[in-house]
Amino acid sequence: MPEADIEGQRYQSGTPQAAPGFFLKGSHQLDWGMKNRLARVFNPQSGRTVMLAVDHGYFQGPTTGLERIDLNIVPLLPQCDALFCTRGILRSVIPAESPKPMVLRASGGPSILKELSDEQIAMDMEDAVRLNAAGVGIQVFIGGEHETRSIHNMTRLVDAGLRVGMPVMGVTAVGRDMVRDAKYFRLACRIIAELGAQYVKTYYVAEGFDTVVASCPVPIVMAGGQKQPELDALTMAYNAVQEGAAGVDMGRNIFQSDAPKAMIAAVHAVVHKNTKPKEALDMYLSLKAQG
Ligand code: 5RP
Repeated sequence: MPEADIEGQRYQSGTPQAAPGFFLKGSHQLDWGMKNRLARVFNPQSGRTVMLAVDHGYFQGPTTGLERIDLNIVPLLPQCDALFCTRGILRSVIPAESPKPMVLRASGGPSILKELSDEQIAMDMEDAVRLNAAGVGIQVFIGGEHETRSIHNMTRLVDAGLRVGMPVMGVTAVGRDMVRDAKYFRLACRIIAELGAQYVKTYYVAEGFDTVVASCPVPIVMAGGQKQPELDALTMAYNAVQEGAAGVDMGRNIFQSDAPKAMIAAVHAVVHKNTKPKEALDMYLSLKAQG
């Protein structure tokens, strides 16, 4: 078993996985349409993305900061590389004139009042194509009560995505009682990649995140998680991209900030320009002061 022997240097985090002819790890042998959609979400110059996650309502209703997506999120659109949202919000609120790529939440079922791993596929691939989506995202509950079903949901979505050239982002969903460490995320990310997702959204861990990235053969985007002070969130994003993440898919740490526009600009600098956290915080504070 891979986890049974001594870790040592097995992950070789300093040696990037080759992707001849394309800028994204693990994506060089995909078809043109799939690559084109990935190149809309990930910036081909930096190889990274700042996705703005606003899909929370699909299981928790009007989350703080997302009560009015028309008023609070639409103004942020010019500053993100892609939006992660539900098709309901896309059709009802997001202007169709927006040139930004849209990645659509494709799983759902239980609300916060029930067992969260009890999800199903909640959108036909045909609708994602109709909506000109740049990708779809689905939760996978490794170790969760409905682990097998959530994996099967993802593999069905991957099969449907391959038929039309639609990348699937597998999201590692961590149950309330699960240990959030590098060993768990190595397991979850690798399963998601092995079973066909074109990229993976997962959480940052302070110890060993580079091994999570190195052992996952497709790009990883860092999930934001609960709201933290701005400097902590910027430091987490900085560390994640320095340790190999291909960007972030952040929600609450942007839209629950006192100054979401300033915060997304600071995250953008960290992700695409390798701006150090303290400098990015100064940028945030100065933009916030300018209103
Ligand atoms: C949970 C999700 C969420 O729906 C959302 O995208 C999380 O964003 P954040 O934690 O940054 O607020 O994907 O895994």
